[in-house]
Amino acid sequence: MLIDLAGKVALVTGSATGIGRAIAEALAASGAAVALNHFNQDGEIGAVAAGIAAGGGVAASFAADVSDGRAVAQMVAQIEARLGPIDILVNNAGILLEKPFLEIAEAEWDRVIAVDLKSVFLCSQAVLRGMVMRGSGCIINIASELAYLGRAEFTAYCAAKAGVVGLTKSLAREFAPAIRINGIAPGPTETAMLSLELISAAWRARELAIPAARAAAPSEIASTSVFLASDHARFYYGQMLGPNGGALMS
Ligand SMILES: NC(=O)c1ccc[n+]([C@@H]2O[C@H](COP(=O)([O-])OP(=O)(O)OC[C@H]3O[C@@H](n4cnc5c(N)ncnc54)[C@H](O)[C@@H]3O)[C@@H](O)[C@H]2O)c1
Repeated sequence: MLIDLAGKVALVTGSATGIGRAIAEALAASGAAVALNHFNQDGEIGAVAAGIAAGGGVAASFAADVSDGRAVAQMVAQIEARLGPIDILVNNAGILLEKPFLEIAEAEWDRVIAVDLKSVFLCSQAVLRGMVMRGSGCIINIASELAYLGRAEFTAYCAAKAGVVGLTKSLAREFAPAIRINGIAPGPTETAMLSLELISAAWRARELAIPAARAAAPSEIASTSVFLASDHARFYYGQMLGPNGGALMS
């Protein structure tokens, strides 16, 4: 399947590492000019930008906390001034919290909801105004299989990701047909989020007890995003695609 995104500008949030990095690299390899968002990761994002440039692609980095509306507005203005109007938005940035429900502090709950869900509202609103004026655009929201499965001790994360699913379907209905809005609900993927620094060994083992018997490489999630951003997905509206190794079958 040939996918040519030449002439398109894509913004990928949280693209210094993991799935976001792989999505940014894949979109750039398909010809899009990519705005790389990061939050306090100057070193990592510089390496991503340099790698894309070395491969003949176009990328520029933009720092912003995507849970902060003013920072998001400034970032979108900077991107449009430097690269042009945003055609493709990938809401990928996210954080994880493993904690028994009764021990979660209000500030911890608020931070997970802000980064994992409110950021999708903020970034989507910031780019949709221009997309509506131009009559075209595409948004891809990264949720999680856990939005559907639920998981003990990951309640804030699961609630936020389930919110992303509802937001994706509602936005898809509100902005169709000119703008296509879909999402991806990945299964376990080999990134920092699945490392033992962020989740316990017991949960990591349970995450990998799936038909595929392994975690995905970030590139196996990124390929789904390139498809959704392309004309090959022009009949897709409000869908959550599930590269999840069989963890969830729908
Ligand atoms: N790894 C998995 O198993 C898995 C499974 C399902 C869904 N996901 C989702 O995939 C997405 C990417 O996660 P990942 O696995 O690559 O982990 P990751 O930690 O490598 O990537 C998350 C990125 O988001 C960035 N980020 C965090 N807070 C931010 C903020 N306020 N503003 C801007 N950027 C911010 C981080 O700096 C990081 O680069 C997340 O939304 C995550 O929930 C991951």
